Amino acid sequence: MSLLRTKSVEQSIRDTEEPEYRLRKDLTALDLTVFGIGVIIGTGIFVLTGVAAKDYAGPAVALSFVVAGVVCALAALCYAEFASTVPVAGSAYTFSYATLGELPAWIIGWDLVLELALGAAVVSVGWSNYLTNLLENFGISLPGVIADSADGVFNLPAAMIALLLTAVLTIGIKISSRVNLVIVTLKVAVVLFVIFAGLFFVKGENYRPFIPDPVSGKAVEGLRAPLVQVLFGVAPVSFGVFGIFTAAAVVFFAYIGFDVVATAAEETRRPQRDLPIGIIGSLAICTALYVAVSLVVTGMQHYTKLDEHAPLAAAFAAVGHPGFAVIIALGGLAGLTTVVMILMLGQARVLFAMSRDHLLPPAFAKVHPRFGTPYRIQITVGVMTAILAGFIPLAALAEMVNIGTLCAFVLVSIAVIILRRTRPDLRRAFRTPLVPLVPAFSALAAFYLMLNLAVETWLRFLVWMVIGFFIYFLYSRSHSKLARLVGDEVAGEREVLAETTFPSDRDGKQ
Ligand code: ALA
Repeated sequence: MSLLRTKSVEQSIRDTEEPEYRLRKDLTALDLTVFGIGVIIGTGIFVLTGVAAKDYAGPAVALSFVVAGVVCALAALCYAEFASTVPVAGSAYTFSYATLGELPAWIIGWDLVLELALGAAVVSVGWSNYLTNLLENFGISLPGVIADSADGVFNLPAAMIALLLTAVLTIGIKISSRVNLVIVTLKVAVVLFVIFAGLFFVKGENYRPFIPDPVSGKAVEGLRAPLVQVLFGVAPVSFGVFGIFTAAAVVFFAYIGFDVVATAAEETRRPQRDLPIGIIGSLAICTALYVAVSLVVTGMQHYTKLDEHAPLAAAFAAVGHPGFAVIIALGGLAGLTTVVMILMLGQARVLFAMSRDHLLPPAFAKVHPRFGTPYRIQITVGVMTAILAGFIPLAALAEMVNIGTLCAFVLVSIAVIILRRTRPDLRRAFRTPLVPLVPAFSALAAFYLMLNLAVETWLRFLVWMVIGFFIYFLYSRSHSKLARLVGDEVAGEREVLAETTFPSDRDGKQ
């Protein structure tokens, strides 16, 4: 049972007041919304629109963005309830600790490394790609060994961007949010430019047929096959109504990140009100932008002709404006900068919460006396990200980011239902509507998307989880602060405990 010991919501909130571990509360609803947009809009919209439309959905890719947006909105409603009830750094990790228990919480914290640190490293490599292209536009090329190239030894631009952003994140949350605001403004301006400039080139005939006739997709063989195909023989469908759903799984990556807003809970001035606004607001804005971009791009060029690598720039080239590619590349570069920054911010906050609970060494979680940030963790995260991004070609691991995120969605959705039962008394500033329907549907939708990921991604995921189990049993379980708390209480107050523990209050005393 000790594996399922839960930490009470009250205890989690009390821990945020410990002077050594107190983060500076500087963020507003606007900051959080801009953080959300900063981390959501990245390569997804700049790249995946092409593949998804050309291979799976045609112009109806706009509907795929709506479907993926709805799946994320369901999860966002669950995150919003939790974040407003337990405004503590750590997001899904903290929520699971309050409901599912210590081992599931550890597992989810460990799993979030896939979304956050690995995500940051993967996107840093993407960033260096954009930089290389942009520099080439100006006739500058980096020496092969330090560039993002086949003969490269160390991807210097990727490592540099991770370190530079770590410096900003370490200095303070407010400065980070200002830097974020400037870059997000640039990136949203480019997205709006694509939408409005592109509108002039939209031709009605490109939308015909809007939903192309279905064709059965090529079944992929071996480890690259989606798990659902291996288990149930369901090959991916291209086009038709089902193609819209297949494409939704592809464009899901473009939405990743809105959940990271919840990790900044402890740095928010009025978390109960502002976190739901930040999470749901940023997701809504990005969904609108994504649907508009995909409608414009498929209207500019027939879906069969879309480019799979740089669809937006190629669509402008096709209508006689190759020069716009530079503007779009700039938007991509800006876009990826804030994605890397906020993923690293989120990673540091999750590890911070885990260290404060002593599941990782607590000295790690010390907050800087002047900057008010968890500087030791932030710097470690930055250095690790830089090393990963610098040395390892990560494109093959990009799907791991999806599985890590989706797994967190499943657990958070289930946890909402559990916390409603175990702690109906808690004040919930934001309530997920139609519980248990919405969270149940959210968990199922996220799980369905997980099934669409490749077998090799599942295998890597399982290996990662097994490593997590080992660390938990070798270190975290015995060092856990909660274990000691419960141990002391058991030793000193066994009788009192026996009297005060009741089934509806699974708050860590059992
Ligand atoms: N949503 C982020 C992107 O599209 C991860 O790059």
